[in-house]
Amino acid sequence: APTLTLQDFCVADFGATAVVVNGFPCKPVSNVTSDDFFFAGLSNEGNTSNIFGSSVTPANVLNFAGLNTLGVSMNRVDVAPGGLNPPHSHPRATELIILLEGRLLVGFISTNNQFFSKVLKPGEMFVVPKGLIHFQYNVGNKKALAITTFDSQLPGVVIASTTLFGSTPAIPDDVLAKAFQVDQKVVTAIKSKFAN
Ligand code: GLV
Ligand code: MN
Repeated sequence: APTLTLQDFCVADFGATAVVVNGFPCKPVSNVTSDDFFFAGLSNEGNTSNIFGSSVTPANVLNFAGLNTLGVSMNRVDVAPGGLNPPHSHPRATELIILLEGRLLVGFISTNNQFFSKVLKPGEMFVVPKGLIHFQYNVGNKKALAITTFDSQLPGVVIASTTLFGSTPAIPDDVLAKAFQVDQKVVTAIKSKFAN
C-alpha cells in the first residue's frame, strides 16, 4: 500500500482543541482547478555547480499540492560528469529510477549489507526498496538526467553524510570517532564540510 503519512512522528497533544492531521487538509472541491493537478517544475535543468556535482529537483506535495493523499511523487536528478547524488535514503518510499540521458551507476545496500548496482543507459530502470541507502554516480563523460518516482507524496530524505556530520546540534565527535573507528581529527575534517 502507498505510504500516505508525511511526518516521522506524531506526538499526542492531549490538550489540543483544533483537529491536527499527519498530512494536509483538503481544499474545498469547489475551489479546485486544473492548475492544482499541473506542475512544470521539472522542466528546468538543476544547477549541478556544487560540491557533489548533482542536483535533485522535487515534485512532491510541498510544491505540487494536487499530490496530497495520492501516494506518488517524482524528482528530477541532474548529475554532471563525475558527479554524485550522495548516499541517502527515503524513510517513507520505494524509489523507481529511469535514466533519460547519459550513463549512471545506481546502487543500494540491503539490510544484510549486500550492495546491488547497475550502470544504466537511457530508458533503463532500477528500483530501490523503501528505506535503503542508495546513490547515483555519473560514470559517463556527458551530463546525466534521470527521473525518480516514489510511492509517497512526501518520501523524505536522509543524506548519510549530512545527517551524521552536519546535524544541529552536532553529534559529539567521540561518538563519530568511535562509530567510524577514526581519530577525532578525521571527524573534525569531515564535519567542516557539512557543518551548518
Ligand atoms: C534519487 O535517488 C532521488 O532521491 O531522487
Ligand atoms: Mn533517492
